Amino acid sequence: MRFVRLDTPKPISKIGLGTWQFGSREWGYGADYERRAAEIVRRALDLGVTLFDTAELYGFGRSERILGAALEDDRAKVVVASKIFPLLPVAPVVQQRAVASAARLGVDRIDLYQVHQANPVVADTTTMRGMRTLQDVGLVAEVGVSNYDLRRWRFAEAALGRRVLSNQVRYSMIDRGPEEDLIPYAEQAGRIVIAYSPLAQGFLSGRYDASNPPSGAVRRANPYFLPENLARGTELIATLREVADAHDATPSQIALAYVLRHPNVVAIPGASGVEQMERNAAAADIDLADDEYAALVAAAHAFRPVTGLAAMPRLIRARLGK
Ligand SMILES: NC(=O)c1ccc[n+]([C@@H]2O[C@H](COP(=O)([O-])OP(=O)(O)OC[C@H]3O[C@@H](n4cnc5c(N)ncnc54)[C@H](OP(=O)(O)O)[C@@H]3O)[C@@H](O)[C@H]2O)c1
Repeated sequence: MRFVRLDTPKPISKIGLGTWQFGSREWGYGADYERRAAEIVRRALDLGVTLFDTAELYGFGRSERILGAALEDDRAKVVVASKIFPLLPVAPVVQQRAVASAARLGVDRIDLYQVHQANPVVADTTTMRGMRTLQDVGLVAEVGVSNYDLRRWRFAEAALGRRVLSNQVRYSMIDRGPEEDLIPYAEQAGRIVIAYSPLAQGFLSGRYDASNPPSGAVRRANPYFLPENLARGTELIATLREVADAHDATPSQIALAYVLRHPNVVAIPGASGVEQMERNAAAADIDLADDEYAALVAAAHAFRPVTGLAAMPRLIRARLGK
């Protein structure tokens, strides 16, 4: 396992484990998944993963409970990251919600407490006042944000009066927005970009095509899995496979290596089974050659999916089975 080179209370592994899937029916993993989830966590620990990401929103607290229980006594050794869903995130609410998350996780201190998304009405000044108190009393070690643009990330830092260590954002080969400003800022200021959906929810695994789409409500609502976009992704997946073959690896591992190439980026893929966790952890050790990276960039640029408003009628038709 590799780790971010930054001064943090505990080392942060380049590959972490995302746990939205835990306790969330919308991924469609069935009743047996709760047992597998615990196995995934235990295997991640064996493999040197130290970053475990959850949120109060995931399964309405179930993800935090499943993760906390599975970590057992190892909770204190790793970085347990959770998120407040910012419905009225004024200082007293932030404090109460952190206490509730810590209780569900079974920890005395949340290693990284993140604001799940920017609230359009409540300013970060009051949210960060709550965060500062949580740090002062020792309930929170580091503060993070999620889905923040650069301007608001920096504003949150000014409001906290301390570093906001990380910004968790969608980042993968086919969602490259963070390369414009968030990643350069993280590198220059000693911060971290936490890449969520680094496999584009499994699109980049190459497992799916128009005749074999994934199940579950989350991916039925994701335009990348429209039959048309799965077809448009053929060349991109072929390039991933070509690079993967040269490393005796899989397309997913190469997609992870692509985002991890930046020193201040860590990725938190979710996993539907232990074997995926093993492969994802191993991806931290893959070094892409410059020409391989360039081929991936070119293939990603050439991929033109139907997204945004244009995808809406197609998503509805797909939902209705038409
Ligand atoms: N802050 C936010 O707003 C936000 C938003 C979204 C997610 N997140 C966090 O980020 C985490 C990851 O994002 P995500 O779950 O949306 O997307 P992801 O990590 O890109 O995709 C996860 C899915 O990809 C498939 N997969 C994983 N490893 C694989 C491998 N080695 N080979 C083949 N397939 C593999 C699995 O699905 P199948 O096996 O079923 O194909 C898995 O459930 C979440 O768990 C959550 O913690 C945060």
